[in-house]
Amino acid sequence: MTNNGPSRVIDIFDTTLRDGEQAPGCSMNLQEKLEVARRLEKLGVNIIEAGFPASSPGDLESVKAIAGIIKDCTVAGLCRSLEKDIDAGSEALAKAAHPRIHVFLATSPIHLEYKLKMTPDQMVEQAVAAVKYAKKFCSDVEFSAEDASRSDPDFICRVFKAVIDAGAVVVNIPDTTGYAMPEEFAGLVRYIKEHTLNIDKAKVSMHCHNDLGLAVANSLAAVGAGADQVECTINGIGERAGNASLEEIVMGLRVRKDYLQVDTRIDTAQIYAASRLVSKVTGVNVQPNKAIVGENAFAHEAGVHQHGVMANRATYEIMTPESIGIPKNRMVLGKHSGRHAFEERLKDLGLALEDPALEELFNRFKILADKKKVVSDRDIEALVMENSASTPETYKLDRWVVNSGSSLSSTSTIRLQHKDGGFLEQVAVGHGPIDASFKAINQIIRKEPELENYELKAITGGEDAQGETWVQIGRQGRHWKGRGISTDVLESSIKAYIAAINNMEWFK
Ligand code: KIV
Ligand code: ZN
Repeated sequence: MTNNGPSRVIDIFDTTLRDGEQAPGCSMNLQEKLEVARRLEKLGVNIIEAGFPASSPGDLESVKAIAGIIKDCTVAGLCRSLEKDIDAGSEALAKAAHPRIHVFLATSPIHLEYKLKMTPDQMVEQAVAAVKYAKKFCSDVEFSAEDASRSDPDFICRVFKAVIDAGAVVVNIPDTTGYAMPEEFAGLVRYIKEHTLNIDKAKVSMHCHNDLGLAVANSLAAVGAGADQVECTINGIGERAGNASLEEIVMGLRVRKDYLQVDTRIDTAQIYAASRLVSKVTGVNVQPNKAIVGENAFAHEAGVHQHGVMANRATYEIMTPESIGIPKNRMVLGKHSGRHAFEERLKDLGLALEDPALEELFNRFKILADKKKVVSDRDIEALVMENSASTPETYKLDRWVVNSGSSLSSTSTIRLQHKDGGFLEQVAVGHGPIDASFKAINQIIRKEPELENYELKAITGGEDAQGETWVQIGRQGRHWKGRGISTDVLESSIKAYIAAINNMEWFK
């Protein structure tokens, strides 16, 4: 193996905010999407796919808002090959510094026959018309042949030739169902590059799903076969088993630059912070043994491994934790820590803030440090998240009292402050302290949303761990999530329920 440096730089197209957000349980509110978009820009992705503007007014608004703040990346909006979708896409992207309209239409026999009810000729005609229409608004148009891996390769070449002639500058090969095998997928990319007459006028992209656990392998194989762009998501979130994970692809290319001779422009030191943010705003945990960003990705348990790592880390580590932004051993933060140390830690975590937000956060840190001996990095991330990614508070928890035991029904008294300044108090009896508290809140807001999901976890270990609660409520076919954090699990549950109610009220 020789390292002569990369000969190509691959574009990273991040679809966390579109394909990722589309996955069950991964929805984000506008503030959260903006925060993720800013972080993706800092990470250095080339393209942020911000949403699917025609899918809902909320999606259109969030693509518009993201397009308005992102300057260093292309912002893309997904559109079916329909004029009304492309109209919504161009409206949403009007203020983008670098807009991209991404149109798609399926090419596989099964999609053509059962979903689109179209002949191959009609498909080509519609795809060409869509690209031509999109070109009126935007010079950067990408075309995706949905379900490409189950399509006839010659038909894909025909479609790509036609859409490139119509103006597409990127053609994407999705493994929509996660069906492909790495060598087979690399073969498909090679075939398309060799048999599409005008392929030199467009970049070749791929988009892999993880149904067989091969999304990253297929993506890397496609890069090896000459693809120019990879579509992926932070933590691999996405439809069903997810999309190819950005951090695995980027680190695969960086660590094995010697082998693939390609690289990306990603600042890998931002990877960990991006992964933590996406996990926090979606409430979807990263599995501990997940490559690159899992809790155990750099943990060495076996004695022989520990011995080797102590002698020389490279015995068992092919990359350093610092290279993805996991900070080195650092000073413990607690109640005696000053503002300077706190500010430095925020910077290390990629969460730098300025006054007055910094001052407010430092005060909350001090309150937490009074309750906990040691405030961990996870605790600090949680404080930042609690402060930043929330919707306006219609209701705020003022105080609560719960009476509970083994042989009596639980009673909860909740007092909330309404945004107009008034206080509202109710008492309710329930099957347990949480049930009683949620009922008291329902009485205050005079609504009874359905409690669809409730999850409680500890942010850190130890007796004084902070509890993090996630709640999902539903009403009239819509769903809202809320998150609460406290050293008291009842309080974190009440806060999470109120956060979900505030999301519901804000939506209204
Ligand atoms: O999986 C898929 O085929 C897609 C396309 C719309 C790119 O997400
Ligand atoms: Zn997809």
